[in-house]
Amino acid sequence: SFPTTVRIFEMSPRDGLQNEPGELIPTTVKVELINRLSQCGLTHIEAASFVSPKWVPQMGDASDVMAGISRQPGVIYAALTPNMKGLEAAIEAKADEVAVFSAASEAFTRKNINCSIAESLERFAPVMETARHAGIRVRGYVSTVMGCPYQGEVDPQQVARVAKAMLEMGCYEISLGDTIGVGTPLKAKRMLEAVSKEVPIDRLAAHFHDTYGQAIANLYAVLEEGIAVVDASVAGLGGCPYAKGASGNVATEDVLYLLQGLGIETGTDLQQLINTGHWISRTLSRHNGSKVALARGDC
Ligand code: HMG
Ligand code: MG
Repeated sequence: SFPTTVRIFEMSPRDGLQNEPGELIPTTVKVELINRLSQCGLTHIEAASFVSPKWVPQMGDASDVMAGISRQPGVIYAALTPNMKGLEAAIEAKADEVAVFSAASEAFTRKNINCSIAESLERFAPVMETARHAGIRVRGYVSTVMGCPYQGEVDPQQVARVAKAMLEMGCYEISLGDTIGVGTPLKAKRMLEAVSKEVPIDRLAAHFHDTYGQAIANLYAVLEEGIAVVDASVAGLGGCPYAKGASGNVATEDVLYLLQGLGIETGTDLQQLINTGHWISRTLSRHNGSKVALARGDC
């Protein structure tokens, strides 16, 4: 059955901007995006990524972004940390929470973080340990849960294995990434069925990209199974450098509209989110990827 409340984890400052082609997005724009998002009633915002700037140039100013934001009480500002170097920088920048990331596909893991899945988990061990001592919660991402741009099909059992390993390492929550947005509702349910045998459903989140336009349908399918945490990106911002044609996360506005229709509480202001989506789309000269935002307009 459907959850009564859903927590939205806003991804746009990180997943939404990390692959933006062309010039580097000014730090001030990122800071303003995060500040605007935190006025919408969102409680979890992935604000930055402490990865190698050679690999992801758009996230090279992560420390400056974290230093520039006006922190709202009750809002968690999270950051990606692939290794100890990233974690140390995130702690220095006072990230409230961090995230480690691996995948269910070996080929994707190699392209994304330059190691095997097993090596990635080994790399996370000291990150988990240090974060625990610093009192910082760690989230875990498993990418390619419904398909991989290199190997194609992904076995749900493999998703379950990686998710379980991350949970056992101490991640408080595992976010299941349909990185290239190839899933469909039945596939999403089957994948979740396999994973929830190893990881309790209340420790799982859905992180669906919308490449094939299935993300809202897939979310409906997993919400029905009890998923109560949804990753989303305002205006559907985003893409993936290692996944041809991949589009951003499902648009936060569209998720909110779906949830409102189901009578599910989020504490988020839809119109303010719509305005924020229009603002960032205009600022980046980008098409707004939210259907709801296009229907409602800016006001
Ligand atoms: P590597 O080249 O194997 O690492 O990269 P290395 O340890 O050999 O380091 C190479 C250089 O990077 C060194 O600098 C390090 O100091 C530096 P040099 O000596 O050459 O000048 N370096 C760093 N600099 C800043 N911050 C750091 C850091 N670490 C090393 N943390 C590494 C390995 C993991 C670092 C690299 O592959 C990397 O940064 N990958 C990140 C890829 C990425 O950000 N992908 C997108 C995020 S994941 C995602 O979007 C999926 C998700 O949304 C879920 C879904 O949709 O499925 C989460
Ligand atoms: Mg993603």
